[in-house]
Amino acid sequence: MDGFETIILQKDAGLAWVTLNRPDVLNAINLRMRDELWEAAHAALYDPEVGVVVFRGAGERAFSAGADISEFGTAPSYVEARRARQQRDLWALLDDFPKPLVAAIHGFALGAGIELPLFCDLRIASEDARLGLPEVNLGYIPSAGGTQTMPRTVPRGVALDMILTGEPLTAQQALRWGLVHRVVPRAELYAEAERLARLLLERPPAVLSLAKRALRRGPDLPLEEALRMDGRLARRLSADPEARERLAALLEGGRASGGGHVSPKC
Ligand code: COA
Repeated sequence: MDGFETIILQKDAGLAWVTLNRPDVLNAINLRMRDELWEAAHAALYDPEVGVVVFRGAGERAFSAGADISEFGTAPSYVEARRARQQRDLWALLDDFPKPLVAAIHGFALGAGIELPLFCDLRIASEDARLGLPEVNLGYIPSAGGTQTMPRTVPRGVALDMILTGEPLTAQQALRWGLVHRVVPRAELYAEAERLARLLLERPPAVLSLAKRALRRGPDLPLEEALRMDGRLARRLSADPEARERLAALLEGGRASGGGHVSPKC
């Protein structure tokens, strides 16, 4: 499963590994890579054999050092650049992605190199990771969603510090602020990412997808509306035949082992 120039897409028993593969330039995300990531994400979205996607970076030094600076200002026109972004909107696709996304981050994760993981559900970093939004140094603001996704992930004050100073966080600081969920030694990064991904693969996909939607959309709604959405999603799930089967099996197992009552509203 490949044919890409800037990424590698590998499928392994339910898991799609997407490797950013421009190690000579610290996996800088050029337009080609953004388009290929869009294609790979679509492939994973429509492939029924893929349950979880894991992003990682090739080489020893970086997950990704961000947008490819050498392409800045090279778009033929503003209108064309905007049209291309709308037609192949990678960030919107990831934001709405119904399957779990995991990022395995080592070395530099800067600019779009952390904005991509911010669209992922779980972020695991190795101890050498340095995560930051240095766009201010180039005269920009983070434009792959960072000004919005970062303060929805870490406390607003931390996001302000990162965006205004451009200073990166260490892996341990990122862990403390909830920017990453786990920190592991470099040698264990992919094994840990795979362990988590396989854990997710054991969970019912419909539940993961609806839980993702509730968590992504809910916090931006007024509480009353968010609770209504929560109820709607829960009802949709309780009507799902697979969920009913699972519950029946659980109840059956509980009865067989003499266990207590299992509430479907647990
Ligand atoms: N876009 C394009 N190329 C990049 C890049 C980027 N975002 N980040 C690194 N590279 C390239 C460098 O130009 C260099 O290429 P070369 O060997 O052909 O000269 C190569 O990757 C290695 O980077 P280098 O700067 O030599 O490594 P370093 O260890 O001295 O510094 C960084 C590493 C990450 C601190 C530094 O590369 C950097 O600041 N990169 C830009 C990060 C950034 O601003 N990202 C946000 C963009 S909006």
